[in-house]
Amino acid sequence: MQSNYYEKSRNEKSRNMENPFKFGTIVEEEYFTDRVEEVAYIKTFIQSANHLVLISPRRFGKSSVVAKAVKESKRKHIIVNLQQATSISDLSAKILKEFFKINPMGRVRHLITHFRFIPTVSTNPLTGSLDVSFQPVADETILLEDVMTLIEKTYSEKERLVIVFDEFQEIRDIAHNLDRQLRSIMQQQKHVNYILLGSQESMMTDIFEKKKSPFYHFGELMRLGKLPREDFHHYLSERLATVFEEKHNAIADEILDYTGCHPYYSQQLAANVWQMKALQPQCEVNVAAAVNRIILSHGLDYERLWINFNRTNRWILQRLASGKPLQSGEYRTSTIYSALKRLQKDGYVIYSDHYEMEDPFFREWIRQNNR
Ligand SMILES: Nc1ncnc2c1ncn2[C@@H]1O[C@H](COP(=O)(O)OP(=O)(O)O)[C@@H](O)[C@H]1O
Ligand SMILES: [Mg+2]
Repeated sequence: MQSNYYEKSRNEKSRNMENPFKFGTIVEEEYFTDRVEEVAYIKTFIQSANHLVLISPRRFGKSSVVAKAVKESKRKHIIVNLQQATSISDLSAKILKEFFKINPMGRVRHLITHFRFIPTVSTNPLTGSLDVSFQPVADETILLEDVMTLIEKTYSEKERLVIVFDEFQEIRDIAHNLDRQLRSIMQQQKHVNYILLGSQESMMTDIFEKKKSPFYHFGELMRLGKLPREDFHHYLSERLATVFEEKHNAIADEILDYTGCHPYYSQQLAANVWQMKALQPQCEVNVAAAVNRIILSHGLDYERLWINFNRTNRWILQRLASGKPLQSGEYRTSTIYSALKRLQKDGYVIYSDHYEMEDPFFREWIRQNNR
C-alpha cells in the first residue's frame, strides 16, 4: 500500500529537499510511526493513579513514545533526563526549572517562600529561558524534598502531575542512596504519576525487581520492542520513493533485513541511502554502499572501542558478529555468561530472543576487519 504523500516531490530537486529520515533525537509528528497500541496504553495508564516503568535497550524509541503519549493525554507533565543531572542539587534545580515552564512563577511565588534554601532563578538573555540553580548546601536531599513538596501542593488528587524521569537507571550514579531518598519522598506524594524510563536492561530490572531495592515493584513494568516490520517498511519505502523511482520497496526491505527493524539504525541507514541518491541521482546507489559509508565515518570510534575490550569480550563480539555459537568449549559457560551480562549492561549487546550486537555497523566493522 503506497501512499502518494511523497510521490509528487520526487521530481522536485531532491538536492534541496530535507532528508526525510531522522535519528538521534526524539521523533514526533511525521517522523513518528506506529506504536499505536503503546501510545494508547500509556495514555490510559496515566489516567489511573499508578506508576509506569518502561524498559528497552537504548534507541528503541522510549523517549519518543512517552513524549507522544503524555502530549496527547493533555495532562500537565514534566520530563527530566537523569543522565543530565550531576548531583541531587542539580536534579532538584532541573525539576524546578521544568515546573516553572508550566507554572509561571508569579502564581507559585508564595509556595517558594517555604523553601529552606531559596533557589536562584534568572532569565538567560540568549535563549530567553529560565535558569534555576541552588547554592551549595550540606544536605542536598532537603532541596529535593522542598521541590517535591511544592509540586505536591500545586497539584491535587483530581489533577495529578505526570513526572517522567528518563534514563532512570542513572539514579544510582547521581548520588549514594538517592534511590532510597527519592523513594521515600515519592511515598508521601499523592498528586503525581510517575513514568520511569530506562535502558541498560539488567540495571533497570535490578532496580524494579530485586526485593532489596527501594523501587521493588514500584509500578507496572512495560517493555518496548523494535518497530513492527510492515509499518516500518511502509514508512521507509514512501520516503525513499522521493529519490528512488523504482527500487524503493526493495531497498526498504534490504534496510530492515540489515538492521533487524531496529528503529534508530534503520533510520540512520535509510538517511544515508537517501542522501547518497539525492546527491547523485544518476548513480546506482545500494544499501551496501551506504553501510560502508557509515562504517568508514565511525571507523576511529570502533577502533577505540575495540582496543579497550579485553580478550574475552573481543572473542564474544567476534562470535556474535559472525553468527557463530558461543558454546564452543573455548571459554567456560559461566565466563561467557558474565561477560555477556556486562556487555549487555554497557549497551554493546542486546537480548530479545537471542543475544546480538546492538550496533549492526560495529558488527560489520568487526566482520570486515576479521578480528
Ligand atoms: N516511533 C518511531 N518512529 C520512527 N522512528 C523511531 C520511532 N521511535 C524511535 N525511532 C528512531 O529511534 C531513534 C531513537 O529514539 P528515542 O525515542 O530517542 O529512543 P530511546 O529513548 O529508547 O533511546 C529516533 O531518533 C528515531 O530515529
Ligand atoms: Mg531516550
